[in-house]
Amino acid sequence: MTTVDDNPRNGLVDLVEASADDMTRETVRELAGFRMRYKFAMDEVSTKIAILREEFEHAHDHSPIEHVRTRLKSPDSLLAKARKIGCPLTLEALEQQIRDIAGIRVVCPFVSDVYWIMEMLGGQSDVDVVEVEDYIADPKANGYRSLHLIIKVPVYLSDRVVDVPVELQIRTIAMDFWASVEHSIYYKYDGTVPTTLRDELGAAARTAADLDATMARLRSEVHGISVR
Ligand code: GTP
Ligand code: MG
Repeated sequence: MTTVDDNPRNGLVDLVEASADDMTRETVRELAGFRMRYKFAMDEVSTKIAILREEFEHAHDHSPIEHVRTRLKSPDSLLAKARKIGCPLTLEALEQQIRDIAGIRVVCPFVSDVYWIMEMLGGQSDVDVVEVEDYIADPKANGYRSLHLIIKVPVYLSDRVVDVPVELQIRTIAMDFWASVEHSIYYKYDGTVPTTLRDELGAAARTAADLDATMARLRSEVHGISVR
């Protein structure tokens, strides 16, 4: 599993440096504690995914997961997002309005694996599925496809239990390839992608969807319908 922290050095001192213009030392300490809860939630969900993967691989001759990537929003990105959406800079408001502080991306070989992961996690008694955005059934206008979930999991602290949201993006390798290229193009053009390029990206997204469908068909022709 790859873990990415938006703040590469990821220490309290770095948090102070990163946000010195905006916050007092005490606020920075509180923010570090606040962020830590999201890291714990991310660790909990990562473990759940690792268990599903390992158990599945033990029973079958293939894996439903290609790779998993986690990322914790850095204090700077958190502040930037709060400003963008007009969220007051209090921990209560950040907690309520920003639900992608902990993010996990699960990349699967097949579309059926994507939904399998959702069903397996969603069926667990300590997982509360708060939101499902199915951009596979209903792709975005630019062609983006992915299954987005917000789930809440309990985190057991020394003095209390807190339910913490984690954003999950579950997608196929083809969807992930498209999204990473589209993301870099979007940034290069600062959000205003020329029309021809936009059209070509749309066509590439359809090609990626066709590839997913072809691979699923080939697999079921070779292995039969009940592959899993
Ligand atoms: P944000 O969380 O602020 O982005 O807004 P939102 O909650 O309306 O976002 P949404 O659920 O649509 O997307 C959340 C995340 O999915 C983004 O931060 C990206 O990582 C990814 N994503 C969504 N749309 C696109 C897209 O068109 N292209 C790419 N490459 N990634 C996308
Ligand atoms: Mg979001």
